[in-house]
This record gives sequence, structure tokens and C-alpha cells, in this order.
Amino acid sequence: MGSTIVRALDGVDLTIKQGEFVSITGQSGSGKSTMMHLLGCLDRPSAGQYILDGQVVSSMLDSQLAAVRNQKIGFVFQTFNLIQRTPAIDNVSVPLFYGRRGNTRERAMRALERVSLDKRATHKPSELSGGERQRVAIARAIVNEPKIILADEPTGNLDTRTGTQIMKIFHELNDSGVTVILVTHEMDVAVQAERVIRMRDGKIVEDKQVDADVRKELLGAYGHVALTDEAVKETNAAATTAKSDKPLPPIARPVEA
Ligand SMILES: Nc1ncnc2c1ncn2[C@@H]1O[C@H](COP(=O)(O)OP(=O)(O)O)[C@@H](O)[C@H]1O
Ligand SMILES: [Mg+2]
Repeated sequence: MGSTIVRALDGVDLTIKQGEFVSITGQSGSGKSTMMHLLGCLDRPSAGQYILDGQVVSSMLDSQLAAVRNQKIGFVFQTFNLIQRTPAIDNVSVPLFYGRRGNTRERAMRALERVSLDKRATHKPSELSGGERQRVAIARAIVNEPKIILADEPTGNLDTRTGTQIMKIFHELNDSGVTVILVTHEMDVAVQAERVIRMRDGKIVEDKQVDADVRKELLGAYGHVALTDEAVKETNAAATTAKSDKPLPPIARPVEA
């Protein structure tokens, strides 16, 4: 039978520094999830090299890959991917069993405290709101104190207000030194990162730093929440442009003298 080779990623050359906050954007099918799978050691590239924290991941065995993933990376997904009918605290504990770490309950509880859900520890996902479910998923992602958080459309199933609360947690994690890599097609979410990478047809077509002033305005002076009307308009305009797949308008704005 004939078969076509799909180059889900093609000639990508990317370096992400420790402690960076990076967004990966692009239309459906542009290669975002494939990129995420490679960065997250869920998959290996069929060609080329991936070096994570000094280790050549691309030539590792599956078991080594799983160990690196468990130690270094926390995952957050659009659909939360929690185990239903299982209390929040047990969902959060899952990554601890692979590493056979002690004090499981205490560690899981501490992770739930970091997302302000310790009071809901015994609740099952069905007893929690969407935003709370995503916070449980974030607690699960950080329970092993990973160096990297990979989030694939984490606000995609949430309303704007709840999405903002979730973004606030990512900002706090990044402030504490965690590298955050966020896949999103929502431009108002994407530009909250320090750096926005745009993909198309498996290639990186744009890689930009977000202007510090614009970012500060977007994040608000306190707590990353307040979005000014102007900032919302600006990002909506950017989002429209991105949807039509034209190059993004410059994110950087002239700094007033
Ligand atoms: N397992 C697979 N087998 C064949 N093609 C795939 C597979 N996974 C992804 N692709 C293709 O690779 C391209 C990139 O997909 P993906 O990374 O899922 O994009 P995105 O997350 O940006 O929507 C798409 O053309 C998709 O159809
Ligand atoms: Mg995808």
C-alpha cells in the first residue's frame, strides 16, 4: 500500500533556556502537539537530536525516557486527564508512585496547597468545577517538583475568568524558577509568556520576545490578573491576525521616552 510520510516537525531548531516562559502557537495541524510530545519526552524524534538538561534524550531507551519524564517534567492537558471517581489527593499522588518517594500524602497535600485546593483534597473530579479540576491537574504536575511544566491548551476548556486564574498559577510557578512551556492558539494567553513561538506546517515561522512593558500591562501590577481594556483590544487584534495566519503584528511597542 502506498503511504505518505508526514513531517509533523520539519527542520526545527529550538533552544529553550531554564526558567523561561514560552508559548507555542499555531493553527491546528501545525505541529504544536508533536513538539510538545518531543519536549516532554513522550516521544523521540525520528531524526535529529534533543538535549534536555545536558542529557541526550533522543537516544534514550523507553525506560530512561520515562524516568526523565517523571523527574523533570510536569504535564497539564486541556481536558485535565484526571482519574474519575478518585479523590483529588490520590490523583495528585499518582506521579509519586513511579519515583517511589516517601511521604506521599504530605507531598500531595503540599501540592494541593500551592493551588489553594487543600480544602478539596477528598473531593472527586465530578464534585469539582472545571477550574478546580485543572488546579488538581496542576498540583499533580508539580508534585514531583519538576523543572519544566508543559501545558497543552490548559485554558481551552475554561471560561476567561477561570482561565486567568489558571494562568496566574503558571506565572507563580515561573516566578519560582520553573520553565513553563505552554501550547495555545489563544493569542491573549500566548502573549503572557516572555517568548512566543509560532508554528506552521511543522516549522517554526516566528520566534519573538514579548515586550516587557506589554507583558507587565497584561499581567497587571498585582497578581497577574487585571487585563486593561487596551491590552485586551491589542491581543484580540493579534488573535484575529493569527487566525488568518498572517504574520503576527509586532508584539513589542515603542517604549515612551
Ligand atoms: N501519529 C501520527 N501519524 C501521522 N500523522 C500525524 C501523527 N500525529 C500527528 N500527525 C500529523 O502531523 C501534523 C502535526 O500534528 P500536531 O502536532 O497534532 O498539530 P497541532 O497540535 O498543532 O494541531 C498534522 O498534519 C498531523 O495530521
Ligand atoms: Mg494539538
